[in-house]
Amino acid sequence: MKKEIVMMVGPTAVPERVLKAMNRNSISHRSEEYCKIHERVVEGLQKLFGTENEVFILTSSGTGAMEAAIQNCFSPGDHVVIPVIGTFSEQFAKMAEAYQLKVTRVEFELGEAAQVDRVMEYVREDTKGIFVIHNESSTGVTNDLESFGKALEGRDALLITDSVSGAGGLEMKMDEWKIDIVLSGSQKALMVPAGLSFISLSQKAWKATESSKLPKYYFDLKKAREFQKINQTPNTPAVYNVFAVEEALNMIFEEGLENVYRRHIDNTNQIIEGVRNLGYDIFPKDDKYASKTLTAVYAPGKAKKIVKGLKEQGVIVNTGLFPIEEDVFRVGVMGYVYKDDVEGFLEALSRLSK
Ligand SMILES: Cc1ncc(COP(=O)(O)O)c(C=O)c1O
Repeated sequence: MKKEIVMMVGPTAVPERVLKAMNRNSISHRSEEYCKIHERVVEGLQKLFGTENEVFILTSSGTGAMEAAIQNCFSPGDHVVIPVIGTFSEQFAKMAEAYQLKVTRVEFELGEAAQVDRVMEYVREDTKGIFVIHNESSTGVTNDLESFGKALEGRDALLITDSVSGAGGLEMKMDEWKIDIVLSGSQKALMVPAGLSFISLSQKAWKATESSKLPKYYFDLKKAREFQKINQTPNTPAVYNVFAVEEALNMIFEEGLENVYRRHIDNTNQIIEGVRNLGYDIFPKDDKYASKTLTAVYAPGKAKKIVKGLKEQGVIVNTGLFPIEEDVFRVGVMGYVYKDDVEGFLEALSRLSK
């Protein structure tokens, strides 16, 4: 029995099965038992990412994998293009600047998705990378990665995507969509506590690591690749989180990846319809790019009060992020969220709206 309805944008609800998987004795990260678990987890993550490339397990939150992407594939002075559609795409731009990359931001109005043609106007011959967020958690908008992949075909620039609030809840086809780096985290659609991030590199991205001049140590992916050969990591990983990811992946594949995606879509559609029936709208400017892992609900001037009112009824959602924190609240359906949770949320919201 769930005590509360947890519909946060992350960290998300952790299922009983995943909690139980962590309730065990410690093992060495150099033991045969760990190596077997590590191997299975990597295989599962490859399916989630839609890739034949290796996926690396990093002990960090999602931001660590973002740093790993930059540190391993770029050099100071490299030109990169970053469509900014909200807080997390802006964070990527700031991070790239901290590493002395030359960043061209292509700004979009909050609530919009990145338009491929507009972004491509800024991609030059010497552009080394384009960082496109998969799912902008601050505005509830999903970018069209497939179109970015097509637009960049034949170019030297790497296509890098932060799928922290996407992978596992939204379709991800790294290889088919020609994405060079996909990264994600454990505390969203994977239903695991924060502590692990994941990153995968295409052959083209591995080639870029050869000329990268940025300093790297903890997140040195070449070193990680050596250790991955024996199903280990260079340093001590968050072993309990790895146990948890294995069980979460079991749950996902038992349900079926397509069914998991369908459930995220159905739950979100029910939320969108439900909030509209109650007189609210959603923040994304066009339904066609509204995220299916979280909904940013537009409630001008009332968002914080609503989040508080829902909490008093045992429904936990998130406020908006700067600069829209007064006007938007965010409801996640990532991972362990089912129809009865959605109905519970809508009922609680309807009580507040009367
Ligand atoms: C899309 C996106 N990118 C990056 C991050 C940062 O991840 P973390 O907080 O795990 O470092 C988040 C966190 O919510 C996110 O939603």
